[in-house]
Amino acid sequence: MSNRTLYLEFGDGFRILFILSYGVIILVRELSAIVIVGGFFGDEGKGKIISYLALHDRPSIVVRGGVGPNAGHTVMMEGKEFKLRQLPSGFVYEKARLLIGPGVLINPKVLLDEIEKTKINPKRLGVDYQCGIIEDTHIERDSKPDLKGRLGTTGSGCGPANADRALRILKLARDIEELKPFLTDVPGELHDAIDKGETVLIEGTQGTFLSLFHGTYPYVTSKDVTASAICSDVGIGPKHVRDVLVVFKAYVTRVGAGPLPNELSEEEAERRGWLEIATVTRRKRRAAPFNFDLARRAVKLNSATMIAITKLDKVFPEVEGVRDFDKLSDGAKEFIWEIEKKVGVPVKIISTGPDILDTIDLR
Ligand code: GTP
Ligand code: IMP
Ligand code: MG
Repeated sequence: MSNRTLYLEFGDGFRILFILSYGVIILVRELSAIVIVGGFFGDEGKGKIISYLALHDRPSIVVRGGVGPNAGHTVMMEGKEFKLRQLPSGFVYEKARLLIGPGVLINPKVLLDEIEKTKINPKRLGVDYQCGIIEDTHIERDSKPDLKGRLGTTGSGCGPANADRALRILKLARDIEELKPFLTDVPGELHDAIDKGETVLIEGTQGTFLSLFHGTYPYVTSKDVTASAICSDVGIGPKHVRDVLVVFKAYVTRVGAGPLPNELSEEEAERRGWLEIATVTRRKRRAAPFNFDLARRAVKLNSATMIAITKLDKVFPEVEGVRDFDKLSDGAKEFIWEIEKKVGVPVKIISTGPDILDTIDLR
């Protein structure tokens, strides 16, 4: 079937798409950006979900927002595991351009290391001129008792670097020789893609309740990390966003200090198979059952349009690797329906294993 498409541009950045097929005109409002954020305290499995979306939705760009190399996203493809602290998790879709927005902090050593480990073509990567740079002094300051000791920070230098940025003394990517080959205008590239109606994935890091503004202050990270902030990190405004996907794990985990309602003992977490080890710091993650109150609030703070649930197999072991909703156990289905009912937003993606393909897509 041959389709002809015509675009009608509007001054506000939206476009109307006419698809002419068999003489039929279909009117579509095209918004092409999807923002993915964490709904609890980070480590919800955003890396897994974003890598799935990248392979499935074939975006022209996957762009990373969020704080910086304090994040650890895990991507598992064909039995190979990648731990990403800087590169967008969508690197698995080889045609996607990979960008890092100006709001994100860069540790050049970590970034260069990841380019090597993932074996991506370096030409795919673009780092914004204005990304802030983490230096050894930031890492040293982050390891002091008031930060790593009191708050349990990741010690990756992000807090002190963002403090220096606020003081306007932080170096930027444009000042760093070894980043020269990657430097680009990230918002410019994004808007070019959006203007062409191309799909763009915007990758958040951390989780809603680690937000500097909306989280459990002072036990939070050094920036806001809700969907609006992630958009700001990469340089797009809300009107371009088609969907805000909030990722929840089927239980809650938290690393570092700060409140965790209904926290389980380490023994109980282990018994349930919920004891995890943090990607960046190798600390044990604290665990608690799924928290509907937090989920409801996260959905509001992010203006979520859909939800992804990960690690369903860790609550309902019988669903491990299931890729069809109808094949989920009754208990697992009821849990998903309970979330939809209590939280008020549809669950569109369900993850039943760490591999990209262990995914149910209900969109
Ligand atoms: P941050 O940006 O640091 O918050 O990380 P993240 O949200 O990408 O999560 P992270 O990779 O740190 O932790 C999630 C862990 O769960 C990883 O080890 C994933 O491989 C694993 N994982 C993700 N989805 C599933 C799933 O559905 N089932 C199982 N068993 N493991 C999963
Ligand atoms: P910072 O972001 O390193 O300053 O750490 C502040 C708090 O956020 C600590 O409790 C960290 O454990 C937590 N944190 C920061 N990044 C992540 C993440 O990617 N996953 C989970 N927790 C994180
Ligand atoms: Mg993580």
